[in-house]
Amino acid sequence: MSRRAAMHVSRLLIEQARNKAFSTAIFKDVGISNSASHVPGGATFHNHGIFRAASTVRVRHWSGVASDVAKDEKAAPDEDQGGRAVVSSYWGVAPPKISKADGSPWRWNCFRPWETYTADTTIDVKKHHEANTFMDKFAYMTVQALKYPTYLFFQRRHMCHAMLLETVAAVPGMVGGMLLHCKSLRRFEQSGGWIKALLEEAENERMHLMTFLELSKPTWFERALVFAVQGAFFNAYFVAYVLSPKLAHRIVGYLEEEAVNSYTEFLIDLEKGLVENQPAPAIAIDYWRLPPNSTLKDVVTVIRADEAHHRDLNHFASDIQCQGHELKEYPAPLGYH
Ligand SMILES: [Fe+2]
Ligand SMILES: [Fe+2]
Repeated sequence: MSRRAAMHVSRLLIEQARNKAFSTAIFKDVGISNSASHVPGGATFHNHGIFRAASTVRVRHWSGVASDVAKDEKAAPDEDQGGRAVVSSYWGVAPPKISKADGSPWRWNCFRPWETYTADTTIDVKKHHEANTFMDKFAYMTVQALKYPTYLFFQRRHMCHAMLLETVAAVPGMVGGMLLHCKSLRRFEQSGGWIKALLEEAENERMHLMTFLELSKPTWFERALVFAVQGAFFNAYFVAYVLSPKLAHRIVGYLEEEAVNSYTEFLIDLEKGLVENQPAPAIAIDYWRLPPNSTLKDVVTVIRADEAHHRDLNHFASDIQCQGHELKEYPAPLGYH
């Protein structure tokens, strides 16, 4: 390679790296129309024939503005009318244009109407798995050891605690789902739906994070902390899941118990007025199908219910394996909310 070509390539690589790590890139989303069909949840799904122009959606890689994506997504349907740019439909990949049951445009690209649900808040939030075996005690002590420094660090800064907790909570489902996926491929066997169940859990946790991002903005220090914690936790959980899936699920079961407890503390401080009970973000109202006048307290209540469901799912997954069975032998609780 000539020196000039090498310089050109290195300049391109630097440009790419800089854009990925620190900038807010922009790409063109598309809107369009032709036919419409109905999907579960009462939404209307328009499949458009041509890529026409449309809204500008920001893709956040390292943005300091927590609500940019949501704002842009809210603006998207209106901007769609302008038709400012034309994008070739050569690949035939036309994103759908979706409407709510009432005909108003669906404003989120990060989740769709058929992924929304009404949380079951009647679930027992005090349930605890007694640690009787050595493995259970080890899992419980591991979580307790992780819990105290976290509580010391955050104390009663619930919003910040919740936001950072969710960055960790969304990892196990993805790692477990990925490893079960690989196992299914390796062994030429079904998974019993557990891959999907664990990926659903990861996605649900990520939606918790997206919700808190609408209410609180991470500082550079918190971003750096998440970066480091994710690196350590992802790898530790990966190794734990490879060595002993039943231990890994038990640890997550206890982590979820602690998540339920920390959201209960959050609710207590909201009741006492120590935390402002601000209006619920729009993303939460649409995701959990909440009434339009919902508040932060309603959001924390449904998130706590989600955590209690994750607790049960993971303890159940561990129990199945502790009883000498494989996960695939029992149908996974898909859509368990
Ligand atoms: Fe969560
Ligand atoms: Fe959870």
